[in-house]
Order: sequence, then C-alpha cells, then structure tokens
Amino acid sequence: MQAKYPSDSMCIMTDLVLPGETNPLNNLFGGELLARMDRAASIAARRHSRRIVVTASVNHVAFNRSIPLGSVVTVEAKVSRTFKTSMEIFIDVWTEDRESGVRAKANEAIYTFVAVDETGRPVEIPTIEPQTELEKQRFEAALRRKQLSLVLAGKMSPNDATELKALFIE
Ligand SMILES: CC(C)(COP(=O)(O)OP(=O)(O)OC[C@H]1O[C@@H](n2cnc3c(N)ncnc32)[C@H](O)[C@@H]1OP(=O)(O)O)[C@@H](O)C(=O)NCCC(=O)NCCS
Repeated sequence: MQAKYPSDSMCIMTDLVLPGETNPLNNLFGGELLARMDRAASIAARRHSRRIVVTASVNHVAFNRSIPLGSVVTVEAKVSRTFKTSMEIFIDVWTEDRESGVRAKANEAIYTFVAVDETGRPVEIPTIEPQTELEKQRFEAALRRKQLSLVLAGKMSPNDATELKALFIE
C-alpha cells in the first residue's frame, strides 16, 4: 500500500450554531461538538484508509472556549499517525469573528479510528508521511498517546508502554 500524506485526509466542515444545539448559557452543547468532531474525523479516517472506519476511542478533548449561539464553527480533521489498523485523527475547531472574519482556535480533540472489513474485523491501512512541522510533532507524540489510551482501556500493561514511560524517566 502506498504511503499517504496527512493533507490527503483533510476534512473541513463549516456550520452554524443553531438554537437547538445550545446549553442553558446559549453556548454550543458539548455533545453536539463531539458529534461534529466525530463526523469530520470519520471522513478523514475514511479518506486515508478508503475502508469502513469505526471510532475506537476519544483520547483527548479540550473545551477551551465556549462557542456562542449563531457562531460559524469550522471543524478541521486529519490523520496525524497511522499504526497497523488504527489511526489517530487530530481535530482543530475554529470560530470566526462575524465582522473581521478573523479565526480563533476554540477547541481541539484527538480521536482513534480503526479500519474494518464488512464483518467488523480490523484491516491494515496505508502508512502516513507527515510533511509540515506541526504534522511531524503530532506524528511523533501519537505513539505515546496510543499507549496511554491502551493502558487506560486495560488493553496494554503499563510495563509495555515504553515510549510513554520514557516521558517520566530521565
Ligand atoms: C475498535 C475495534 C474494531 C477494535 O477491535 P479489537 O478487537 O480490539 O481489535 P484489535 O485488538 O486488533 O485492535 C485493533 C486496533 O485498534 C487499536 N485499539 C483498540 N482499542 C483502542 C483504544 N482504546 N485506544 C487506542 N487504540 C485502540 C489497537 O491498538 C489496534 O491498533 P493497530 O492494529 O493499529 O495496532 C472494536 O473494539 C469495535 O468494533 N468497537 C466498537 C466501535 C464502534 O462501534 N464505535 C462507535 C462508537 S459506539
């Protein structure tokens, strides 16, 4: 399988925040944002693998800034690293100022997707070659995040999480 670039998988979704999607403070409801991010990440994972993909885990979500009713929200998702059958998707969420159009980063998240066949069995996916400095940083850190996710899910012994442990040991 030929290697791909993160940009090959890029999915950009722009939409409004409507009244039915807000919390009592009139900001975007967290679950609605999670769903938008899951959709964009799923498209990115599918573009990379060209297979059926399923969400295996949500590794990190930071709701750093609330997003008010009426905002224009852009969710950008792309594959940051691939493993054998799984891939990490990095998602950046932006809002744009109504008058100036200037974009501000509102949130980010990291999801793991697995490519599967028609029976739900994991299948191999193409590798990825990061290009930009940011893509290289995200690629580099993704193995530690995978190990942390597997340890927390009880699917890996902490003793085997070599790269993750190295963060804490000089
Ligand atoms: C995700 C799923 C396919 C993994 O199946 P599995 O039997 O655990 O298969 P494996 O152990 O071979 O794991 C497959 C890959 O997923 C990775 N993986 C599994 N659980 C993971 C987790 N919690 N975090 C990170 N990666 C995970 C494994 O490391 C492996 O990656 P690799 O092949 O790239 O090294 C299976 O658990 C599933 O179908 N889950 C339901 C998915 C779903 O319905 N999602 C929608 C949400 S309701």
